Amino acid sequence: MAESKAPSGSGGPKDSAPLTKEQADEKARHLLTQMSLKEKIQQMSGSTSLFPGLLEVWLAYNIRPLPAPENERLTIPALSWSDGPRGVVMNHSTCFPVSMARGASWDTELEERIGDAMGVEARSQGANIMGSVCINLLRHPAWGRAQETYGEDPYHLGVMGAALVRGIQRHAMACVKHFAANSIEKSRWHVDIRIGERILREVYLPHFKRCVDEGAACVMSAYNKVNGHYCGHNPHLLRDILKKEWGFDGFVMSDFVLGIRNGKAASAGLDVEFPVTIHFGKRLMRLVRKGTVSEEVIDEAVLRILRQKIRFARIGQPGRYRPEAVVSPEHKALAREAAQKSMVLLKNEPIGADLQRVLPIDTARVRRIAVIGWLAAKPNFGDRGSSRTRPPYVVTPLEGIRAAMPRYCEIVYNDGRNAGKAADTARQADTAIVVVGCTYKDEGENMFTIGGDRDSLALKPHDEALILRTVAANANTVVVLMGGSAIITEAWREKVPALLMAWYPGMEGGHALADIILGKVNPSGKLPCVFPKSMSQLPLFDKKAKSIEYGYFHGYRLMDKHGQVPAFPFGFGLSYTTFAYKNLQIERSEIGPDEALKVSVDVSNTGNVAGDEVVQLYAGCEGSCVERSARELKGFSKIHLEPGQMKQVDLSLAARQLAYYDEQQAKWIVEPLTYTVYVGPSSRTEDLLSTKFRIRG
Ligand code: BGC
Repeated sequence: MAESKAPSGSGGPKDSAPLTKEQADEKARHLLTQMSLKEKIQQMSGSTSLFPGLLEVWLAYNIRPLPAPENERLTIPALSWSDGPRGVVMNHSTCFPVSMARGASWDTELEERIGDAMGVEARSQGANIMGSVCINLLRHPAWGRAQETYGEDPYHLGVMGAALVRGIQRHAMACVKHFAANSIEKSRWHVDIRIGERILREVYLPHFKRCVDEGAACVMSAYNKVNGHYCGHNPHLLRDILKKEWGFDGFVMSDFVLGIRNGKAASAGLDVEFPVTIHFGKRLMRLVRKGTVSEEVIDEAVLRILRQKIRFARIGQPGRYRPEAVVSPEHKALAREAAQKSMVLLKNEPIGADLQRVLPIDTARVRRIAVIGWLAAKPNFGDRGSSRTRPPYVVTPLEGIRAAMPRYCEIVYNDGRNAGKAADTARQADTAIVVVGCTYKDEGENMFTIGGDRDSLALKPHDEALILRTVAANANTVVVLMGGSAIITEAWREKVPALLMAWYPGMEGGHALADIILGKVNPSGKLPCVFPKSMSQLPLFDKKAKSIEYGYFHGYRLMDKHGQVPAFPFGFGLSYTTFAYKNLQIERSEIGPDEALKVSVDVSNTGNVAGDEVVQLYAGCEGSCVERSARELKGFSKIHLEPGQMKQVDLSLAARQLAYYDEQQAKWIVEPLTYTVYVGPSSRTEDLLSTKFRIRG
């Protein structure tokens, strides 16, 4: 399906200009008046009943889109679903780096282009809705699905998610998931997240609001409970906050199969049971007939679905939807660019008498490179749950390095299963590259026998031993880590001179890795989550919890509160050049509660190569009537600087970004206080310039 059908009432074929919200709403209301109750409930229900529906889902998930009914009489098109967020999960589509990696790019313009590519590949294969925008906050890096989200910070998550929404929605509806506080995998179907209203509003929801403000067509409810109610049955989340307070005009879809427990979910604000009908369909009809669920509830839900179908029937660029658009040369290049911009250089120390750094590898001096570790020769592109893609090929680190090295440079490979033999291989080389980390077996969506949450954040003991043996044999050792979130590096970090976080870098990852290792590309990724020294620096994570309390602090905010020093801070990442920050300026020393502060800083490239830098803005205050984080990310900008070049970077901080949520008054309060604005290359105190300003009462 390259073309969506236009629902009757959405205008004739000549009438193809995008509709305003009001126009779509008017047409949807008109269409609703022509529908019977049965037709309405059909729009709210998955395509078939549990059996054979589930079997079809199982067999066809990665082959064709899953439908929710069309209505031929009124020419209302079906919802045609495909999943993400690493790429379109159908057939052999482009596999991008996982979201956590893309989060490390801090590049919203790139993320929007990735969304555009996913939208084109989805439409080219018949889908009109994509489950790609996973923005659950990473409360703890052991969460099995960490790789599907962008990181631990609500501001960063919001802008990255909104960029993906923008890109996808040039072509198809974007589904933002999982609403809300979904961040434990093993107990996801029953865990009750106990959480105070202020914490919910300030920490776990702002990024969803950002995507709603961006115009997302669909929100998927989470499996877990929040404060005693399953998210699909949670009127506070779905009705009070999402629909009433935020003015969300799209529809809410259930997470699959166990997303709702009965038809009363409709009254709580759940609009579509997907992908199969278990509790809606005839059962929901009975509840309406008995008066348990009101007809107004049904009308409201259907109106929401129709609005988006009508809106998206006019959205798209049909000329771009064709089989060759899937894994096109442009999308492969985009996957490589995304991987280049995602990798984070964590360490690159000068060593030896001549104080040379191991990276980038100087091919004028190096004649033999040892590549070590079985992961170097294995396609390793993320979990095997619902987000699993099936790319036509994956460039492994070994293949990427082999392809990029000059002929005169020999590559020797050792799979590292025998650490002693691997060390011998390393000893005979000029440089050793050890590739270690996690795979779909260690972390991912809970698929019963594979995936799930991690018990330890450290590498496996064998991998730690392999690193230590290799670096003992060859001081010029680079460790390349693969994985979906933080890895604890305490057992070996001090010993290795160079360390690169490659995440799950997608189908072009091996090429991108070689580009960075050889210095064809200067690394620019920054951590979207803190890398702790130990689990004790993190909040409690209990993967079997039936009920768990989510507090205000996690990640860098928790470490700052306790004065803890992580292994690598949030926002941290090195480059092959150096940057200097000077002259932090604010336009005014006082602003009103509805105003924004203009902030500027001069950033210069003080090294010898061009590079990209992520300029980060944090803010904090003292004397608040509530306990707050020492500082929180409130803005960032990614810039490019040639050697010697200086740029003035302008950022903006709105007073309302500093509001806290007052539980008694149920509203946001901007306190008249003195605030500190911090700007720099990471969240670490030593990296930040700061200045103070006031917000008037
Ligand atoms: C996941 C969703 C996914 C759905 C469909 C569920 O198990 O939680 O993220 O979209 O499956 O694959």
